[in-house]
Amino acid sequence: MISVQTNPSKQVSNNTRLAFTNSARTAWGRILAEVCRTNKNVLLPAYIGITDREGSGIFDPIESLDLAYDFYSLNQRLEIDYCSLELQMKSGKFRVMLLVHYFGIEQSNTKRVKQLCDTYSIILIEDCAHVAGLIDTNVTLGGYGDYAFYSLHKSLAVPTGGMLRCNNSELPLPAIPSAEMCEPVVVSELLFTDMEKVRSTRKKHYQRYLEQLKGVEGLTVMYEQIENITPHSFPLVIHGGLREKLYFSLFDLNVPTIALYYRLISNIDPDVYADSYSVSRSILNLPLHQDLDDEQIDYICTSVKQKLRELRV
Ligand SMILES: Cc1ncc(COP(=O)(O)O)c(C=O)c1O
Repeated sequence: MISVQTNPSKQVSNNTRLAFTNSARTAWGRILAEVCRTNKNVLLPAYIGITDREGSGIFDPIESLDLAYDFYSLNQRLEIDYCSLELQMKSGKFRVMLLVHYFGIEQSNTKRVKQLCDTYSIILIEDCAHVAGLIDTNVTLGGYGDYAFYSLHKSLAVPTGGMLRCNNSELPLPAIPSAEMCEPVVVSELLFTDMEKVRSTRKKHYQRYLEQLKGVEGLTVMYEQIENITPHSFPLVIHGGLREKLYFSLFDLNVPTIALYYRLISNIDPDVYADSYSVSRSILNLPLHQDLDDEQIDYICTSVKQKLRELRV
Protein backbone atom coordinates (compact mmCIF):
# COMPACT_ATOMS: atom_id res chain seq x y z
CA MET A 1 0.00 0.00 0.00
CA ILE A 2 1.40 3.42 -0.90
CA SER A 3 0.31 6.84 0.17
CA VAL A 4 0.16 9.50 -2.53
CA GLN A 5 1.55 12.76 -1.28
CA THR A 6 -0.50 15.55 -2.77
CA ASN A 7 -1.52 19.05 -2.07
CA PRO A 8 -4.43 18.61 0.40
CA SER A 9 -6.89 20.37 -1.91
CA LYS A 10 -6.10 17.84 -4.60
CA GLN A 11 -5.86 14.81 -2.43
CA VAL A 12 -8.37 12.14 -3.36
CA SER A 13 -6.98 9.06 -1.71
CA ASN A 14 -4.44 8.08 0.87
CA ASN A 15 -5.07 4.44 0.24
CA THR A 16 -3.72 3.86 -3.25
CA ARG A 17 -2.88 0.26 -4.09
CA LEU A 18 -0.98 -0.88 -7.16
CA ALA A 19 -0.68 -4.09 -9.14
CA PHE A 20 1.64 -4.67 -12.09
CA THR A 21 0.36 -6.37 -15.25
CA ASN A 22 1.75 -7.27 -18.66
CA SER A 23 -0.25 -4.49 -20.38
CA ALA A 24 -2.75 -1.73 -19.79
CA ARG A 25 -5.52 -3.72 -21.47
CA THR A 26 -4.96 -6.59 -19.04
CA ALA A 27 -5.36 -4.20 -16.10
CA TRP A 28 -8.53 -2.72 -17.65
CA GLY A 29 -9.94 -6.21 -18.27
CA ARG A 30 -9.22 -7.27 -14.69
CA ILE A 31 -10.94 -4.18 -13.30
CA LEU A 32 -13.99 -4.79 -15.50
CA ALA A 33 -14.15 -8.46 -14.49
CA GLU A 34 -14.00 -7.40 -10.85
CA VAL A 35 -16.65 -4.67 -10.85
CA CYS A 36 -19.02 -5.56 -13.71
CA ARG A 37 -20.82 -8.38 -11.99
CA THR A 38 -24.18 -6.77 -12.52
CA ASN A 39 -25.71 -6.52 -15.97
CA LYS A 40 -25.31 -2.76 -16.04
CA ASN A 41 -23.54 -1.07 -18.92
CA VAL A 42 -20.11 0.45 -19.32
CA LEU A 43 -19.94 4.07 -20.51
CA LEU A 44 -17.17 4.50 -23.05
CA PRO A 45 -15.84 7.58 -24.87
CA ALA A 46 -16.77 7.78 -28.55
CA TYR A 47 -13.12 7.93 -29.59
CA ILE A 48 -11.59 4.46 -29.54
CA GLY A 49 -9.12 3.20 -32.11
CA ILE A 50 -8.22 -0.15 -33.56
CA THR A 51 -5.39 -1.48 -35.71
CA ASP A 52 -4.98 -4.83 -37.46
CA ARG A 53 -1.76 -5.48 -35.56
CA GLU A 54 -2.75 -4.46 -32.02
CA GLY A 55 -6.54 -4.71 -31.99
CA SER A 56 -8.22 -2.22 -29.65
CA GLY A 57 -6.68 -1.77 -26.20
CA ILE A 58 -9.91 -0.28 -24.89
CA PHE A 59 -12.59 -2.23 -26.71
CA ASP A 60 -11.12 -5.76 -26.79
CA PRO A 61 -11.72 -6.38 -23.04
CA ILE A 62 -15.34 -5.19 -23.42
CA GLU A 63 -15.89 -7.68 -26.21
CA SER A 64 -14.08 -10.57 -24.59
CA LEU A 65 -16.08 -10.09 -21.37
CA ASP A 66 -19.23 -9.67 -23.46
CA LEU A 67 -20.25 -6.51 -21.58
CA ALA A 68 -23.05 -4.15 -22.55
CA TYR A 69 -21.83 -0.64 -23.34
CA ASP A 70 -22.78 2.73 -24.67
CA PHE A 71 -20.73 5.68 -25.87
CA TYR A 72 -20.67 9.28 -24.63
CA SER A 73 -19.81 12.04 -27.06
CA LEU A 74 -16.67 14.14 -27.25
CA ASN A 75 -16.14 17.36 -29.15
CA GLN A 76 -13.31 18.16 -31.56
CA ARG A 77 -10.94 18.73 -28.63
CA LEU A 78 -12.00 15.32 -27.27
CA GLU A 79 -13.69 17.05 -24.38
CA ILE A 80 -16.87 15.75 -22.75
CA ASP A 81 -20.27 17.35 -23.24
CA TYR A 82 -21.24 17.33 -19.54
CA CYS A 83 -24.96 17.90 -20.07
CA SER A 84 -25.45 14.96 -22.37
CA LEU A 85 -23.19 12.84 -20.14
CA GLU A 86 -25.34 13.63 -17.14
CA LEU A 87 -28.50 12.71 -19.06
CA GLN A 88 -26.97 9.33 -19.87
CA MET A 89 -25.92 8.82 -16.25
CA LYS A 90 -29.40 9.69 -15.00
CA SER A 91 -30.82 6.72 -16.91
CA GLY A 92 -29.42 4.45 -14.17
CA LYS A 93 -28.12 2.04 -16.84
CA PHE A 94 -24.44 2.38 -16.02
CA ARG A 95 -22.14 0.74 -13.49
CA VAL A 96 -18.78 1.96 -14.84
CA MET A 97 -17.46 4.93 -16.81
CA LEU A 98 -14.12 5.03 -18.61
CA LEU A 99 -12.41 8.41 -18.96
CA VAL A 100 -9.40 8.40 -21.30
CA HIS A 101 -6.66 11.02 -20.89
CA TYR A 102 -5.72 11.00 -24.57
CA PHE A 103 -2.04 11.80 -25.24
CA GLY A 104 -1.57 12.05 -21.46
CA ILE A 105 -3.45 15.38 -21.52
CA GLU A 106 -6.48 16.23 -19.40
CA GLN A 107 -9.14 17.11 -22.00
CA SER A 108 -12.08 17.21 -19.61
CA ASN A 109 -12.45 18.34 -16.04
CA THR A 110 -11.74 15.05 -14.28
CA LYS A 111 -12.84 16.35 -10.91
CA ARG A 112 -16.22 17.34 -12.34
CA VAL A 113 -16.59 13.94 -14.01
CA LYS A 114 -15.81 12.23 -10.70
CA GLN A 115 -18.47 14.33 -8.95
CA LEU A 116 -21.04 13.30 -11.56
CA CYS A 117 -20.04 9.66 -11.17
CA ASP A 118 -20.42 9.92 -7.40
CA THR A 119 -23.86 11.51 -7.77
CA TYR A 120 -25.09 8.61 -9.90
CA SER A 121 -23.13 5.83 -8.11
CA ILE A 122 -20.96 5.05 -11.13
CA ILE A 123 -17.42 3.70 -10.76
CA LEU A 124 -14.95 5.97 -12.55
CA ILE A 125 -11.95 4.37 -14.24
CA GLU A 126 -9.21 6.58 -15.65
CA ASP A 127 -7.35 5.32 -18.70
CA CYS A 128 -3.83 6.63 -18.12
CA ALA A 129 -2.23 4.47 -20.85
CA HIS A 130 -0.83 7.67 -22.39
CA VAL A 131 0.11 9.34 -19.11
CA ALA A 132 3.83 9.26 -19.62
CA GLY A 133 4.81 10.50 -16.20
CA LEU A 134 3.07 7.50 -14.59
CA ILE A 135 2.40 8.42 -10.99
CA ASP A 136 3.44 12.01 -10.39
CA THR A 137 2.78 13.15 -6.85
CA ASN A 138 2.31 16.75 -8.03
CA VAL A 139 -0.64 16.01 -10.30
CA THR A 140 -3.79 14.07 -9.85
CA LEU A 141 -4.36 12.39 -13.23
CA GLY A 142 -4.97 8.78 -12.26
CA GLY A 143 -5.84 9.83 -8.72
CA TYR A 144 -9.46 10.90 -9.19
CA GLY A 145 -10.92 7.65 -10.42
CA ASP A 146 -11.85 4.69 -8.28
CA TYR A 147 -9.38 2.87 -10.51
CA ALA A 148 -6.77 3.86 -13.08
CA PHE A 149 -4.53 1.90 -15.40
CA TYR A 150 -1.26 2.71 -17.14
CA SER A 151 0.83 1.36 -20.02
CA LEU A 152 4.50 1.10 -19.05
CA HIS A 153 5.77 0.27 -22.53
CA LYS A 154 4.33 3.50 -23.92
CA SER A 155 6.62 5.60 -21.69
CA LEU A 156 9.68 3.46 -21.03
CA ALA A 157 11.98 1.52 -23.34
CA VAL A 158 10.42 -1.84 -22.45
CA PRO A 159 8.41 -4.21 -24.68
CA THR A 160 5.44 -4.82 -22.36
CA GLY A 161 4.02 -3.72 -19.02
CA GLY A 162 0.99 -2.20 -17.40
CA MET A 163 -0.04 -0.94 -14.00
CA LEU A 164 -3.36 -1.04 -12.20
CA ARG A 165 -4.17 1.49 -9.52
CA CYS A 166 -7.04 1.33 -7.05
CA ASN A 167 -7.73 4.57 -5.16
CA ASN A 168 -10.96 3.56 -3.44
CA SER A 169 -10.46 1.63 -0.20
CA GLU A 170 -13.98 0.24 -0.47
CA LEU A 171 -13.25 -1.49 -3.77
CA PRO A 172 -10.99 -4.51 -4.22
CA LEU A 173 -7.63 -4.56 -5.96
CA PRO A 174 -8.21 -7.28 -8.59
CA ALA A 175 -6.01 -10.36 -8.34
CA ILE A 176 -3.66 -10.75 -11.31
CA PRO A 177 -3.06 -14.33 -12.50
CA SER A 178 0.65 -15.12 -12.91
CA ALA A 179 0.36 -15.37 -16.73
CA GLU A 180 -0.81 -11.72 -16.79
CA MET A 181 1.76 -10.29 -14.40
CA CYS A 182 4.39 -7.76 -15.40
CA GLU A 183 7.88 -9.11 -16.23
CA PRO A 184 10.24 -8.35 -13.30
CA VAL A 185 12.68 -6.74 -15.75
CA VAL A 186 10.01 -4.15 -16.64
CA VAL A 187 9.42 -3.28 -12.99
CA SER A 188 13.17 -2.86 -12.45
CA GLU A 189 13.38 -0.59 -15.52
CA LEU A 190 10.63 1.52 -13.93
CA LEU A 191 12.42 1.64 -10.59
CA PHE A 192 15.75 2.59 -12.16
CA THR A 193 14.34 5.22 -14.52
CA ASP A 194 14.63 8.80 -13.43
CA MET A 195 10.92 9.63 -13.90
CA GLU A 196 11.44 13.23 -12.87
CA LYS A 197 13.79 13.62 -15.83
CA VAL A 198 11.32 11.85 -18.15
CA ARG A 199 8.62 14.28 -17.06
CA SER A 200 10.70 17.43 -17.42
CA THR A 201 12.14 16.40 -20.81
CA ARG A 202 8.71 15.62 -22.27
CA LYS A 203 7.28 18.92 -21.02
CA LYS A 204 10.28 20.80 -22.46
CA HIS A 205 9.78 19.12 -25.86
CA TYR A 206 6.09 20.03 -25.76
CA GLN A 207 6.91 23.71 -25.25
CA ARG A 208 9.51 23.61 -28.03
CA TYR A 209 6.95 22.23 -30.51
CA LEU A 210 4.43 24.79 -29.34
CA GLU A 211 6.80 27.71 -29.93
CA GLN A 212 7.59 26.57 -33.46
CA LEU A 213 4.23 25.28 -34.65
CA LYS A 214 1.69 27.62 -33.07
CA GLY A 215 0.07 29.77 -35.75
CA VAL A 216 1.51 27.82 -38.71
CA GLU A 217 -0.92 27.86 -41.63
CA GLY A 218 -2.61 24.58 -42.46
CA LEU A 219 -2.45 23.15 -38.95
CA THR A 220 -3.80 23.78 -35.47
CA VAL A 221 -2.06 22.88 -32.25
CA MET A 222 -4.73 20.92 -30.38
CA TYR A 223 -3.77 21.98 -26.85
CA GLU A 224 -1.82 25.17 -26.24
CA GLN A 225 -1.99 24.75 -22.49
CA ILE A 226 -1.34 21.47 -20.79
CA GLU A 227 -1.03 22.60 -17.17
CA ASN A 228 1.27 20.50 -15.08
CA ILE A 229 0.92 17.11 -16.75
CA THR A 230 3.40 14.94 -18.68
CA PRO A 231 2.22 14.52 -22.27
CA HIS A 232 2.80 11.42 -24.33
CA SER A 233 2.71 13.08 -27.75
CA PHE A 234 2.11 16.48 -29.35
CA PRO A 235 -1.23 16.33 -31.21
CA LEU A 236 -1.91 18.53 -34.23
CA VAL A 237 -4.96 18.93 -36.43
CA ILE A 238 -3.95 19.01 -40.11
CA HIS A 239 -6.37 20.91 -42.31
CA GLY A 240 -7.45 20.49 -45.93
CA GLY A 241 -7.57 16.70 -45.89
CA LEU A 242 -3.77 16.59 -45.99
CA ARG A 243 -3.06 14.52 -42.87
CA GLU A 244 -2.42 11.25 -44.67
CA LYS A 245 -0.16 12.81 -47.30
CA LEU A 246 1.77 14.68 -44.64
CA TYR A 247 2.17 11.51 -42.57
CA PHE A 248 3.75 9.67 -45.53
CA SER A 249 5.92 12.62 -46.62
CA LEU A 250 7.32 12.83 -43.09
CA PHE A 251 7.84 9.09 -43.04
CA ASP A 252 10.00 9.45 -46.18
CA LEU A 253 12.14 11.96 -44.27
CA ASN A 254 12.52 9.49 -41.38
CA VAL A 255 10.27 11.57 -39.18
CA PRO A 256 8.19 9.09 -37.20
CA THR A 257 4.70 10.34 -36.38
CA ILE A 258 1.50 8.55 -35.48
CA ALA A 259 -2.17 9.39 -36.00
CA LEU A 260 -4.02 8.43 -32.86
CA TYR A 261 -6.60 7.14 -33.80
CA TYR A 262 -6.73 7.17 -37.60
CA ARG A 263 -9.18 4.26 -37.55
CA LEU A 264 -12.06 4.11 -35.05
CA ILE A 265 -13.87 0.94 -34.05
CA SER A 266 -16.86 0.43 -36.33
CA ASN A 267 -19.23 0.34 -33.32
CA ILE A 268 -18.88 4.14 -33.14
CA ASP A 269 -21.55 5.46 -35.48
CA PRO A 270 -20.15 8.17 -37.83
CA ASP A 271 -23.55 9.86 -38.08
CA VAL A 272 -23.92 10.21 -34.31
CA TYR A 273 -20.30 10.98 -33.44
CA ALA A 274 -19.22 13.19 -36.35
CA ASP A 275 -16.72 15.15 -34.22
CA SER A 276 -14.85 11.95 -33.33
CA TYR A 277 -14.51 11.09 -37.01
CA SER A 278 -13.37 14.60 -37.81
CA VAL A 279 -10.53 14.26 -35.25
CA SER A 280 -9.69 10.78 -36.50
CA ARG A 281 -9.31 12.05 -40.09
CA SER A 282 -7.13 15.05 -39.26
CA ILE A 283 -5.00 14.24 -36.22
CA LEU A 284 -1.22 13.85 -36.34
CA ASN A 285 0.83 13.17 -33.21
CA LEU A 286 4.47 14.23 -33.01
CA PRO A 287 6.86 12.30 -30.75
CA LEU A 288 7.94 13.64 -27.36
CA HIS A 289 10.12 10.78 -26.26
CA GLN A 290 12.65 11.61 -23.57
CA ASP A 291 15.49 10.23 -25.76
CA LEU A 292 14.92 12.92 -28.41
CA ASP A 293 17.07 16.05 -28.23
CA ASP A 294 16.36 19.68 -29.13
CA GLU A 295 17.99 19.35 -32.53
CA GLN A 296 15.71 16.47 -33.44
CA ILE A 297 12.62 18.36 -32.28
CA ASP A 298 13.70 21.31 -34.45
CA TYR A 299 14.22 19.00 -37.43
CA ILE A 300 10.72 17.57 -36.98
CA CYS A 301 9.21 21.08 -36.82
CA THR A 302 11.10 22.23 -39.92
CA SER A 303 10.04 19.08 -41.79
CA VAL A 304 6.38 19.49 -40.82
CA LYS A 305 6.36 23.13 -41.95
CA GLN A 306 8.23 22.46 -45.19
CA LYS A 307 6.18 19.41 -46.21
CA LEU A 308 2.89 21.07 -45.33
CA ARG A 309 3.86 24.13 -47.41
CA GLU A 310 4.66 21.89 -50.37
CA LEU A 311 1.40 19.96 -50.02
CA ARG A 312 -0.69 23.11 -49.76
CA VAL A 313 0.41 24.66 -53.09
C1 LIG B 1 -5.95 4.93 -24.69
C2 LIG B 1 -5.40 3.53 -24.63
N1 LIG B 1 -5.75 2.75 -23.60
C3 LIG B 1 -5.27 1.50 -23.46
C4 LIG B 1 -4.41 0.96 -24.40
C5 LIG B 1 -3.85 -0.42 -24.20
O1 LIG B 1 -2.46 -0.35 -23.87
P1 LIG B 1 -1.59 -1.66 -23.84
O2 LIG B 1 -0.95 -1.80 -25.19
O3 LIG B 1 -0.55 -1.48 -22.77
O4 LIG B 1 -2.50 -2.79 -23.55
C6 LIG B 1 -4.05 1.73 -25.51
C7 LIG B 1 -3.19 1.21 -26.58
O5 LIG B 1 -3.49 0.26 -27.25
C8 LIG B 1 -4.55 3.05 -25.63
O6 LIG B 1 -4.21 3.84 -26.68
